[in-house]
Amino acid sequence: STVRCAQILQASKNGAVCSFEDQEIKLNGFIRSVRKQKRFAFAEISDGSTVEPLQAFLKPAQAADLSTGTAIEISGIWKACPPGKEQTHELQTTDIKVIGASDPETFPIQKKYHSPEFLRQIPHLRIRTPFNSLLSRFRSECMFQLGNVFHSHPDGAFTQVQPPLITSSDCEGAGETFTLAPRGAATPSTESEHFFRSPKYLTVSSQLHLEAYAAELGNVWTLTPVFRAEKSDTPRHLSEFYMLEAEVNFMSDLDLLTGLVEYLLRDLTRRLYNTTVGQEILSAKRSGEPGQETSAEEAGSLRQRWTDLMDGPKWDRITYTQAVEMLQRAVTEDGATFEHSPTWDGGLQLEHEKYIVEVLHQGRPVFVTDYPKSVKPFYMAPSQVSEGSNTPGETVACFDLLLPEVSEVAGGSLREHRLPNLIQNMREHGLIRPRQIPESGEPALGEPLYPHLTPDEDLSHLQWYADLRRWGSAPHGGFGLGFDRFLGYLTGVSSVRDIVSFPRYFGRADC
Ligand code: 4AD
Ligand code: MG
Repeated sequence: STVRCAQILQASKNGAVCSFEDQEIKLNGFIRSVRKQKRFAFAEISDGSTVEPLQAFLKPAQAADLSTGTAIEISGIWKACPPGKEQTHELQTTDIKVIGASDPETFPIQKKYHSPEFLRQIPHLRIRTPFNSLLSRFRSECMFQLGNVFHSHPDGAFTQVQPPLITSSDCEGAGETFTLAPRGAATPSTESEHFFRSPKYLTVSSQLHLEAYAAELGNVWTLTPVFRAEKSDTPRHLSEFYMLEAEVNFMSDLDLLTGLVEYLLRDLTRRLYNTTVGQEILSAKRSGEPGQETSAEEAGSLRQRWTDLMDGPKWDRITYTQAVEMLQRAVTEDGATFEHSPTWDGGLQLEHEKYIVEVLHQGRPVFVTDYPKSVKPFYMAPSQVSEGSNTPGETVACFDLLLPEVSEVAGGSLREHRLPNLIQNMREHGLIRPRQIPESGEPALGEPLYPHLTPDEDLSHLQWYADLRRWGSAPHGGFGLGFDRFLGYLTGVSSVRDIVSFPRYFGRADC
């Protein structure tokens, strides 16, 4: 029977005696590299179970048909190496069979530098390069550790839930939804022509459903794909990405919410730091792959990034209003220049966010809180802080977490939990529809009116969400983290297109 590289290499590391030593072993794998000399040959073999390859020693005849990428079955004796060699053991090959040849002349990935743009065109093969393979492992470890982070939260375990991906609503109200229709369906004009009786979309965020779960389970979280039809051609935007979202019931303090986000990200980073794959990311050689220009200095700064996340001082919180004032002072006093001059009504542009985190906060994570109500979605609760010159009610109890390079990595808020206020917000955001009067004339007699609506108003596809405020509604809040952006930050990979194995973005979803 065959063994896996992980079993053999693990046994060779633990303790003095390796149980495979001097034993005949057989394994399946791929040739990572082969060095052919006159009297002998060396091959590095990998079967995907480890990052580190296994070394095999072969006779020249045994290596004749081997090249990088060949799938093989190999047998041999697992021999200890004399001290001084890089590896403790190597395989003395007795037999090798080629299972699948790989022509090195035509294989697109060669032993040389390939630009990220080139590799992105062949994502199905890019995942085979050592650094990308490591990224897949790191992502897997992150998901596993996230479960641990939420499961062992000191306030009690968060329940992991599975909200739907097909939804009726555009949670963020930004008009960036993909509409769902069966293949070949004509543009529907009547209810019966819609597969689901009315238009449905791929979700842009699970938040609204998380709120429904939180109303029963208290603290919940999920990690799901979300979809956004944004035509943003940037290293930070994908059309399909993973969002980590959490929602906490009986939460009425924005400081507690930002504290939760800070705690979770520190704890996740610390757990990853203590894993083998985490350490491999920190010391990975990246030649020929995204981020290949990583110098020792840059590797040092990646380590510093992790240390700051894990052990650095408490992350700063500034209000949006303070941020705008600081940016304006930077222009008048420090000669900072921006394409869009910072104004309170103008919102924060990427250039402003970058200046806040990279210059004003020297590259440390920073929460910007209490944005103007006018630039945020309908579900946010009003600010609790006094905003100085602003009239009360002009800002909302929300935050964006900014990190250097990726900029906005997470956003969250307290939710408007009072029914009349929520309905008023929905009115202001144009989310309330005119009520359809049945063909028979008047609305059915005796049909009770939804609380706080006028007779000609209809909550339509968001009525279920308003319902959450009718029965047992309590202050609550939550957040969403761009999982791929955060992984980019942890791995030092500057584009989410190189973090996600098969990236989808405007104009691109080819394989
Ligand atoms: O700020 P956003 O839009 O927040 C929400 O959707 C809330 N409903 C979440 C919640 O409170 N439960 O998205 C959250 C995060 C952003 O901060 C950003 O990091 C990431 O998702 N994100 C993207 N990542 C990759 N590609 C895109 N196109 C992204 N759009 C947002
Ligand atoms: Mg946001």
